[in-house]
Amino acid sequence: MDDGYQLLPDEPVADLDAYVAMGGGAGLARAQEIGTDAVIAEVRASGLRGRGGAGFPTGIKWRGVADAATADGRAYVACNAAEGEPGTYKDRPLMAKNPFQLLEGMCIALVTIGAERGYVATKERFTHEFGRLVGARDAMADAGWARAADIEIVPGPDSYLFGEEKALLEVVEGKLPMPRLVPPFQVGLWADTANPNPTCVNNAETLSHIPWILARGAEAFRQQGTEESPGTMIFTVSGDVANGGFFELPLGTSLRTLVCDIGGIDAEDVQAIWSGVSNSVITPDLLDLPMDFESMKEAGLGLGSGGFVVYDRSRCMVQVTAQLERFLANESCGQCNACKLGNLFMAEVLDRFVRGEAERSDLEDLRKRTEIVTDQNRCYLPVGGALVVRSTLDTFPEAFEARLASPTPEDVKVLCPKIIDVDEDAGEVVFDPEYHRKRPDWSYVAPEDVAVAEPWPAY
Ligand SMILES: Cc1cc2nc3c(=O)[nH]c(=O)nc-3n(C[C@H](O)[C@H](O)[C@H](O)COP(=O)(O)O)c2cc1C
Ligand code: SF4
Repeated sequence: MDDGYQLLPDEPVADLDAYVAMGGGAGLARAQEIGTDAVIAEVRASGLRGRGGAGFPTGIKWRGVADAATADGRAYVACNAAEGEPGTYKDRPLMAKNPFQLLEGMCIALVTIGAERGYVATKERFTHEFGRLVGARDAMADAGWARAADIEIVPGPDSYLFGEEKALLEVVEGKLPMPRLVPPFQVGLWADTANPNPTCVNNAETLSHIPWILARGAEAFRQQGTEESPGTMIFTVSGDVANGGFFELPLGTSLRTLVCDIGGIDAEDVQAIWSGVSNSVITPDLLDLPMDFESMKEAGLGLGSGGFVVYDRSRCMVQVTAQLERFLANESCGQCNACKLGNLFMAEVLDRFVRGEAERSDLEDLRKRTEIVTDQNRCYLPVGGALVVRSTLDTFPEAFEARLASPTPEDVKVLCPKIIDVDEDAGEVVFDPEYHRKRPDWSYVAPEDVAVAEPWPAY
């Protein structure tokens, strides 16, 4: 935590002593000293916005839960470390390289909101990160860090919806990741009609920023980033790039810097970029767009969790969309008919195009389905489906025309960009080669029963 502020240390922080030696603990000490109102005022002044996807101002969220907690007597804090957005790999390195910082952010949230307990919910599959979090929590609790002993590390399933905040609460309570109706700040953990138990859910990266903001002040945090999106963000770049991985950059850095300068693909080779599966497709004429919440919104796009998947001009945009849409159809929980049936319908029609078996009338059917797939949705998953499919239909009509004539050639097909690993030294991002086995009822086809998909081509 020196002057050159960055979330991600160059090397993993070995232990609590090393964390303290780099300034760890100063934020929590100041939070205890200045109290709830001053902490929230500092977080609001910093302009910190949630890094989980929506960019909601963190100070406003904390104020709401702290006020509700005072009125109702009980509140909780949950850290969303489920990291399920395709193309995103940023919370895992944060947990692996500096779990102390994230947990100090949790301690500050617990002290400030006056919450009973805190939960870091992460995937059971992230065994290394899980172990790092448990070790750090134990060390901090043994050393007497305020509220560290009240933090539980909760393992969860390998489901996209685990990261949706209303579903995350269900998982913390030991249930399946099925989103509830009401948001966590209204109905939180173990709530009943008499006890709403408001719960503050923040992304792992959001909470990791908190200690430094408290230790060094809002103005220092604002030295990087833009007026409306201050600070740094950990961006992920993957797909048809020479150098894939995660990179911490100031918000407002251009997409070109990430994709071309760091990723190493020539601008003229870029055909399309997706920021996860919750936003419209980005075309190469927008490479100079600043990566911040306001610029992306003005362009009719979304920053999401900062994970950008790049496709070069060899790829079939219909097949890419079919992969993204199949993911959403599988991951939908089925509590809302329009979502499950609509996403499955769109995935099946897109697959027909990929096989070269679609008819022209399917184009209109696809478009119509994007308009109703969101009917009575409990969560934003189908909004992503509508945006992904509609934006591809609008942007790449010639790709659909080509598929009416013939199937997608085998050699340009891609995997769903669900990231399972990043090799930092080699600049390689590994997509889940087993995802094609997942079925819409969340079971998996036995490996011997499916043709093994081709792995993402090596570069
Ligand atoms: C389908 C779906 C999946 C999501 N997955 C994640 C996730 O993996 N991690 C995350 O932090 N937020 C995820 N979110 C956003 C969370 O619901 C929530 O907005 C976020 O955790 C709030 O934290 P923040 O304010 O710090 O960004 C997801 C949302 C949706 C609709
Ligand atoms: S909108 Fe879809 S994913 Fe979300 S709760 Fe409803 S069925 Fe489940």
